[in-house]
Amino acid sequence: MTTPWKQRYAQRTQRMGSSTIRELLKLTEQPDMISFAGGLPAPELFPVDEFKRAAQRVLKQHGSQALQYSTTEGYLPLREFIVEKMSHYGIQASPENVLITSGSQQALDLIGKLLINSGDLILTESPTYLGALQAWRAYQAEFTTVPIDDDGLQIDLLAEALCGGPKFMYILPNFQNPGGVTLSLDRRQALIEMADRYGVPIIEDDPYGELRFEGNHLPPLVVLDAEKLNGRAHNSDEAGFFRGNVIYLSTFSKTLAPGLRLGWMVAPKSVIRRCVQVKQGMDLHTSSFVQMVAYEVVKKEFLTKHVRRIREVYKERRDIMIGTMLRQFPPGIIWTWPAGGLFLWVTLPTWLDATAVLEKAITHKVAFVPGTAFFPDGSGHNHFRLNFSNAQPAQIEEGIRRLGQVLAEVIENNAQMAYA
Ligand SMILES: Cc1ncc(COP(=O)(O)O)c(C=O)c1O
Repeated sequence: MTTPWKQRYAQRTQRMGSSTIRELLKLTEQPDMISFAGGLPAPELFPVDEFKRAAQRVLKQHGSQALQYSTTEGYLPLREFIVEKMSHYGIQASPENVLITSGSQQALDLIGKLLINSGDLILTESPTYLGALQAWRAYQAEFTTVPIDDDGLQIDLLAEALCGGPKFMYILPNFQNPGGVTLSLDRRQALIEMADRYGVPIIEDDPYGELRFEGNHLPPLVVLDAEKLNGRAHNSDEAGFFRGNVIYLSTFSKTLAPGLRLGWMVAPKSVIRRCVQVKQGMDLHTSSFVQMVAYEVVKKEFLTKHVRRIREVYKERRDIMIGTMLRQFPPGIIWTWPAGGLFLWVTLPTWLDATAVLEKAITHKVAFVPGTAFFPDGSGHNHFRLNFSNAQPAQIEEGIRRLGQVLAEVIENNAQMAYA
């Protein structure tokens, strides 16, 4: 007899839909498809030769250590490097505040496993990162949302959502995925105030902060929170910077390569100790070999120069995409103007459905992600996300031209139907 596996799936799997992103990414494999759908970095910028040389050096000098089991916290020199790197952004941590994770996606899952009981309410921006929703749905979380605008989370709408008693807030302050927008300094300060007043902690997810093309870097929430707490007497047994309301996440996925699966979490030491126990049950530790090779690549000034190059290339692609949209998109369509990162967010007239547009776009061999995927309640039908980092400039121009044509046709057909 064959096992009816479906009947044996745990209850928590019922809310795990298949990911729209993953389904759409399949389409990018079709020949001639120009895809703005995935969140993929530019592959031609991956430092393949540096990794080749670094892997050889690691295997020659520390081969057996690199291939052995290792500590769950992560490779100490890499954690020290991360601490040093974050200090340039005002984050004062020690290696004991840092846990290396298998991508920041694992950190999101860890947080779910650590913090979410079935039915717990999580406050997210709307729209928000789909991968976080996927991770936390598996722990049977419920979501309450606060919309974003060009300056990020709409703080004036936050109090009402906080009154519902969420367990934590999930905030993407820089070049938000999918919105492309950045939380302004005023709002960052107000958010920290409110988190403190309502006693609701923040998960700050910052994979894109280093990819700023223009304007001034803004202080991470974790820094503003620490400044606020440091000005006040406290009873915490944790000395130093990290004892506050914010857990900070970042990754090497967008600055080095996502295939490494290397991210990190920064949190109070007591939280890191708990997360270490949780992570042990997940994968014991992140690949020692990958951590050591990545450290070998970044340890001298390589990353700074490399990130500078990524910023230049992505800025050029953003400009080409927006320039072509300005020429090719019909009137009545608006979009965000990201100062960094990988994405911009398009808003159609409310009567247009982005999923219907996608169906047509696919026949013209161009793809994007419809907005509904990024809203916990499935709303957002008239939005879509465009990625500008992955395609070459000529492809961006051609893909946006095709998309403009699709949009014009859809709008015209609708107008004809309205007059018929
Ligand atoms: C906001 C956000 N968080 C987390 C992740 C996951 O990144 P990683 O590759 O480090 O798992 C992504 C990936 O696109 C993201 O956009």
